[in-house]
Amino acid sequence: MSYSVKIGKEINTKDIDEILDLIGWGRYEPEQWINVKEKSTFMVSVLSAEKTIGFARVVDDTCMAMIYDVAVHPAHQKKGVGTLLMNEILKYINANRFVYVNLFYDMNNKGLDNFYRKFGFELMPNGMRLKKKE
Ligand SMILES: CC(C)(COP(=O)(O)OP(=O)(O)OC[C@H]1O[C@@H](n2cnc3c(N)ncnc32)[C@H](O)[C@@H]1OP(=O)(O)O)[C@@H](O)C(=O)NCCC(=O)NCCS
Repeated sequence: MSYSVKIGKEINTKDIDEILDLIGWGRYEPEQWINVKEKSTFMVSVLSAEKTIGFARVVDDTCMAMIYDVAVHPAHQKKGVGTLLMNEILKYINANRFVYVNLFYDMNNKGLDNFYRKFGFELMPNGMRLKKKE
C-alpha cells in the first residue's frame, strides 16, 4: 500500500473523526476542531488514496511540547503508518529547542510503550492529571 505524508492544518476532520471513533477515543465537535486547529502548532496526516488514515499533532509554546492524537485507522495499523507520523513529529521536535516533550499513552494497551521507545521516549513515573469533575 502506498502512503503519502501531509504536513499542516489543511486536514480532513471527517476522516480523522472516523479514526478517533474507530479506536474508541471519540470524535471532536466541529467547534472543538476549530480550536484544535488554531492552537496546535504542528499537524501531520498520512493519506492512502486521498483518504486520511493516520494523524498526529503537537501543542507547544516553544518551551514545552505535548504530542496528542497519534492515531492510525485500524485497517492500516502495523504497516508503518505510525512510524511515518512519529518521524515527522520528531523532525518538528528536533527543529526546535523544547525543554521537555511529553505524551500520554494507554497503559492498558500492552506493549504500546515499546512503540514510543523506538522513537526515544521513556516512561516517567511522576505524571499527574487533574481529575475530571463528575
Ligand atoms: C499505536 C499506533 C499509533 C501505532 O501505529 P502503527 O501504524 O500501527 O505502527 P507501526 O506499524 O509504524 O509500528 C512501528 C513499530 O511499533 C510496534 N507497535 C505498534 N503498535 C504497537 C503496540 N500497540 N504494541 C506494541 N508494539 C507496537 C510495531 O510492531 C512496529 O515494530 P517494528 O518496527 O519492530 O516492526 C496505532 O496502532 C494506533 O493508532 N493505535 C490506536 C491508538 C493509540 O493507541 N495511539 C497511541 C496514543 S497514546
